Amino acid sequence: MKAPRPTGAEGRGTIRTLMRGFRRDLLGALPERLYRAWMAEFRTPIIHSFFCNDPALLKTILQDRPADFPKSNRMREGLAPLLGNGVFISNGAEWAHQRRIIDPAFEGGRIRHSYPAILGAARAAVSRMPTGITDVEPQLAHAAADVIFRVLFSLPVEHAIAAQVFHAFRAHQEAQPLVNLAALLPLPRWMPRPHSRRTRASAAQIRGLIADLVDARLAQIADGTAPDDLATKMMTTPDPETGACFTRAEMVDQVAVMFLAGHETSASVLAWALWLLAAHPEWQDRVAAEAVQLSDDFASVSTLKATRAVFREALRLYPAVAMFAREATQTETFRERRLPRGAQLVVSPWHLHRHQRLWDRPDDFDPARWDTLEGKTSARTAYLPFSAGPRACPGAGLAMVEGVVMLAAITRAFRLETTDREPLPVARLTIRAKDGIWLKMTPRS
Ligand code: HEM
Repeated sequence: MKAPRPTGAEGRGTIRTLMRGFRRDLLGALPERLYRAWMAEFRTPIIHSFFCNDPALLKTILQDRPADFPKSNRMREGLAPLLGNGVFISNGAEWAHQRRIIDPAFEGGRIRHSYPAILGAARAAVSRMPTGITDVEPQLAHAAADVIFRVLFSLPVEHAIAAQVFHAFRAHQEAQPLVNLAALLPLPRWMPRPHSRRTRASAAQIRGLIADLVDARLAQIADGTAPDDLATKMMTTPDPETGACFTRAEMVDQVAVMFLAGHETSASVLAWALWLLAAHPEWQDRVAAEAVQLSDDFASVSTLKATRAVFREALRLYPAVAMFAREATQTETFRERRLPRGAQLVVSPWHLHRHQRLWDRPDDFDPARWDTLEGKTSARTAYLPFSAGPRACPGAGLAMVEGVVMLAAITRAFRLETTDREPLPVARLTIRAKDGIWLKMTPRS
């Protein structure tokens, strides 16, 4: 069965048709040819942007010369009220300083350390999950937020301040579902992307709540009672080059980033993965069968091979971060075309992962492809759910463990069935379903 996606627009598509379709459905407004093109240019007097699908170009932009292709300033405009100068939107020396402190908190050994928190959140998600026909998107948003609070602050999302942050974030996203994506895409400056008073107020409220969490942790660190979790690690690790630790204000920025980057993304792909399992009972049976191996021992996660293949395939078909942008700091020649300085380069995992020249049966759900040569080759060159190079997602390892554990725990507890409501993907900050992802959930025992 094909994994649902909107059919792209006919014709070449211009930035203006894109604008028109934007409010309705960006994925459907982009031209169908992007699923075949190596590079596609959108040009107006105001903006010059290039969608890049050619793996060699992506390697140049993300891995070989990342300093020449920083994040676009336009992106900051949309996200700065919430994220300050956090690592998701900073550039240059400031960004490098932030990553030198953040990366050690997410290295392999630390993920093992976070495992009890992830497993606890998965068990809590199972116990909250309603039976019958239900929209699983909000359930998974709750579960993914729970993971973030537990791994960062050793608190469940039900904790008073954590719960307020979670609800305020949801209200913030609902108040401006498109603004964030507008910020991620190289759209013309005349495209309205207002920060309404409500948006600014909700961003300030979220940051105030996060500051309370950071203050409480600073006090625990000072009196030697801080738990050994990711927040403590980030707040006590000095930058190995400068010796400086994060200030309180910097830490508020980073926690806002972790929450935004780490919860909607996981929630989005998990919801799609559950729908894919419901639509493919043969894979659901395999995941449920191996899920009995999931235990308190971190090593049990690596035995869940079918579950991991399902999660990877869900990330291919529904890469939570559908698109992201970079800016050329100098004139470039890409595929024999001249790119001016300031050109906006769009990396689109959404198109790359369903590219007709890079994947066999690109729209089919087939976790078995990851064992084949095709899967292995394309995974190296045409699979970017977490981006690549020095600016790749630092949470990727954590997200992979979280994804496998959540899928296994939920599938072990429930039989999942599709309903007559087939979900239609739409691009918000992450890939969501237009009217939710509805499944019939029946307890297995
Ligand atoms: C399935 C889940 C996730 C997906 C698909 C995902 C995907 C991505 C992608 C594509 C980027 C690069 C965006 C860009 O360059 O504009 C990114 C960056 C980032 N992600 Fe994730 N992410 C996930 C989970 C997480 C988690 C769990 C965390 C942390 C707890 C996290 C933290 C970050 C941060 C801090 C960045 C910014 C890195 C930088 O710019 O240097 N992500 N993520």
